[in-house]
Amino acid sequence: MEYNNSYSTSYILDKFDISRQTLYNWINAGLVMEPERDWRDWRVWTQQTLDEIENVITMKKDGVKADDTGIEKNLHINNRRYLGSKHKMVDFIKETIDNEFPKYKSFCDLFAGTGVVANAFNKKGVKVIVNDLLHSNYLSYMTWFYDGMYNSGKVNKLIDDFNNIVPSNDNYLSINFGNKYFSMENARKAGTIREHIDMISDELTTKEKAMLITSLLYALDKVANTCGHYDAYRKSAPENQKLKLLYPSIKDSENKDNEVYKEDANKLVKSIKADVMYIDTPYNSRQYADAYHLLENIAEWKKPELEGVSMKYKNRSKIKSDYCTIKAPLAFSNLIENVDAKLIVVSYNNMAQKGNGRSNAKMSDEEIIEALSRKGTVKTYETKHQYFTTGKATIEDHKERLFVCKCK
Ligand SMILES: C[S@@+](CC[C@H](N)C(=O)[O-])C[C@H]1O[C@@H](n2cnc3c(N)ncnc32)[C@H](O)[C@@H]1O
Repeated sequence: MEYNNSYSTSYILDKFDISRQTLYNWINAGLVMEPERDWRDWRVWTQQTLDEIENVITMKKDGVKADDTGIEKNLHINNRRYLGSKHKMVDFIKETIDNEFPKYKSFCDLFAGTGVVANAFNKKGVKVIVNDLLHSNYLSYMTWFYDGMYNSGKVNKLIDDFNNIVPSNDNYLSINFGNKYFSMENARKAGTIREHIDMISDELTTKEKAMLITSLLYALDKVANTCGHYDAYRKSAPENQKLKLLYPSIKDSENKDNEVYKEDANKLVKSIKADVMYIDTPYNSRQYADAYHLLENIAEWKKPELEGVSMKYKNRSKIKSDYCTIKAPLAFSNLIENVDAKLIVVSYNNMAQKGNGRSNAKMSDEEIIEALSRKGTVKTYETKHQYFTTGKATIEDHKERLFVCKCK
């Protein structure tokens, strides 16, 4: 499937015969992703939006989980923006793995980001192992994949209560990020909610706490005055789209044997094994610790000192990745050497040649293939994929590749 086209708002409204308000309601409800903007700050819709709108319309027709306004209340794992997310590639990854090794009983997503790839393999009879360096991602894995105790009625009620909070006081979030990354009202509300989650921590199970924080982080992503990451916020004042937490829709019966981790993949790989090891490292020098510092800050809630215009917290070195530096080829080679799997599947796009620039790839195809060849026979699969840029138009001819190694 190709995702190179972009569409105007009026095209979208005409095509689906919906009003502008309906479209915005669906964005507010988390059913349709807020799109990127062009240089004029106009929304640029893509095929992804068309797909999402079609889903909403089908869902409404089928009466799936709709509340009395006709809008779904639940949160899904892919309802967030994330650099390098493979949401649109999942079918391609599944087809490739089914073709190469259909009988897998365990699947490890070692650099899991949003976790959307692991989610596609999370089914009965398959153990899923999910890992990332970031705490915000780890909490989301605790929500989506961890087989922990929780009371859905209690979490639902808390989410409803949080949505009805009318905060009067300022807090760490509003003081530092209000009228920047978020409207003042949303920052006040989110800060009050986050504070409250810690206050009632003793009454929550680990899973319940993770669910509440994840719901808050996803809700904040929807209203953030950014193009999807927190390296910078838009200069224009934030729109006051209201913060709304949604209840995470969890596939309990599929989570039985899963494991979730927050470790350096190079360390973790020495102590785990899986039939399929899926590896999706960062591609360039852009550190996820920088792009998602704000979500990390809120997830941790230690209220650290901040620096610079983008208000990043100091000392993020523990979550900085070797894969964003010239150490990437060596780190990758060591990682592969320690993998215990039947099939290794590596994603790496063709966006840029290896080099020293900020957006240059940190590993060449040859380096990837060489490391994998030491473990077994390597094949390359290729597809087109929409590249998530930071506010610019979609990049043509971006191919996403899978390097697949059948281990000896
Ligand atoms: C390209 S993204 C993965 C995207 C993911 N496949 C998805 O669909 O959302 C790379 C991820 O690797 C994580 N990461 C970077 N270095 C890591 C390391 N050494 N160990 C574990 N995770 C790491 C980053 O935090 C980031 O979430």
